Amino acid sequence: MKREHWGSRIGLILAMAGNAVGLGNFLRFPTQAAQNGGGIFMIPYMISMIVIAIPLMWIEWGIGRYGGVRGHGTTPAIFKLFWNHPLAKYLGVLGLFIPFVVVAYYVYIESWTLGYAWMSISGMLPDQAQLAGLAGDARLKPFKEVLAGYTGMNGEAIYKPSLMAYGFFAFTMLLNIWILIKGISGGIEKLAKVAMPALFVMAIVLMVRVITLETPQGTAIEGLNFLWAPDWSQFLNPKVWLAAAGQVFFTLSLGFGAIITYASYLNKNDDLVLSGLSAASLNELAEVVLGGSIAIPAAAAFFGVVAAQEIASSGAFNLAFVSLPAIFSSIPLGSFFGFVWFLLLFFAGLTSSVAITQPVVSFFEDEFKLSRTLSVMATMALLLPISHVAIFLGNALDEMDFWAGTFFLVVLALIEVVMFLWIFGMKKAWEEMNRGGIITIPAFFRPIMQYVTPAFLSIILVWWCMDILPNVLKNSEWTHWIAREVLIGIFATFAFLAFLAEKRRKRG
Ligand code: ALA
Repeated sequence: MKREHWGSRIGLILAMAGNAVGLGNFLRFPTQAAQNGGGIFMIPYMISMIVIAIPLMWIEWGIGRYGGVRGHGTTPAIFKLFWNHPLAKYLGVLGLFIPFVVVAYYVYIESWTLGYAWMSISGMLPDQAQLAGLAGDARLKPFKEVLAGYTGMNGEAIYKPSLMAYGFFAFTMLLNIWILIKGISGGIEKLAKVAMPALFVMAIVLMVRVITLETPQGTAIEGLNFLWAPDWSQFLNPKVWLAAAGQVFFTLSLGFGAIITYASYLNKNDDLVLSGLSAASLNELAEVVLGGSIAIPAAAAFFGVVAAQEIASSGAFNLAFVSLPAIFSSIPLGSFFGFVWFLLLFFAGLTSSVAITQPVVSFFEDEFKLSRTLSVMATMALLLPISHVAIFLGNALDEMDFWAGTFFLVVLALIEVVMFLWIFGMKKAWEEMNRGGIITIPAFFRPIMQYVTPAFLSIILVWWCMDILPNVLKNSEWTHWIAREVLIGIFATFAFLAFLAEKRRKRG
């Protein structure tokens, strides 16, 4: 069976940018920046970009193209090409485990954005008349109640989502399935060509609207000042550095296995140096310029800077689904702007969710030679039960997000560096990454990739193991334990599948 390829360079770059641009850009970035010293956050963010993100991005593109040319799009088989040891495939299992677990909850949150887009445009959210006489926090309360009713997340062990939430989840899942069945160039690339330009237009419309907001409580410009004015007292705070590094990983989809899989559909001599840089630049434009200019400035204009900071501290969901709808309900054409806001999030989410589902789909296609449709069906047969854990089991989403969406990303990234640059070898890896390049990677990145990137990743991991892991493991309610057992079960399932795949390969 012939492997697919991207149809055009622009399609590839947009798909890779779509892979990266997601809920992380518009929700996670502004909340992380606001919680971690505002402008000062950008210094470790930029440094992490240079010493971790850009090198890792080229490494992942390089690993992916190398594997794809040899018929493999996922790490269990690709690591084996670099290191002919039985352990290699089990280390590679992380490249299936991580995107699979993330997508299990990511699609659900993505479906909320579609549900909220519908509620905004159809007038189902509280409006001016219902909010009359309420100010400040009291104005947020009705929106908090809507969110609690929609998701059924009520602090109890089992959540009871509304029928509407479940309906939109089912629809979003079906949409993802449909795009994945259409394939790399026929589905994902086509989606990116429509969704990415639309996403930028929507974000610019919102940015222009938000920047001109002014109320007696504050202005959007004060919000921008707050977000960009450095609080130097936070400069040496390790928490700020860890948050910045974590954000860089999440936003560029690094350590997810998703870039590797997308890059495996390149041709042997396709450029990856400039294409990788272009996709990453589009992501940064969407994150720093657009993501930074919508949610926090809007909250500052309506509630004042201090309250905006408190809102950011209460988390990305509150910002997206409580504060922003409350703000839009108070401005002319509010239901239209609310609709645009949620549709923007939905497009951002959709182009990322297909990307993080694709590794498991490619695994079934490449390693078990299943057809594309069967591979998508097999993936969904595994994914749907796990998504239901995220939907119904209290605390499961947090556990999944910590292990797959935060901790193991860094572990996988470190393994990738060791496999590609150290075991496969720096000389060969450097040639591999530069082959076919429209530009070459600047020479100073060579020592950065080989030594500084893994050193940085190791420091992050040691810090997490010492500081954050014990706190996470302190959560001892049964729901946390069930969620952890589910995660172990998922890893074991993929380890078994990787074992079978290798047996199959050996039989030839
Ligand atoms: N990179 C994706 C995001 O930012 C996962 O949401």
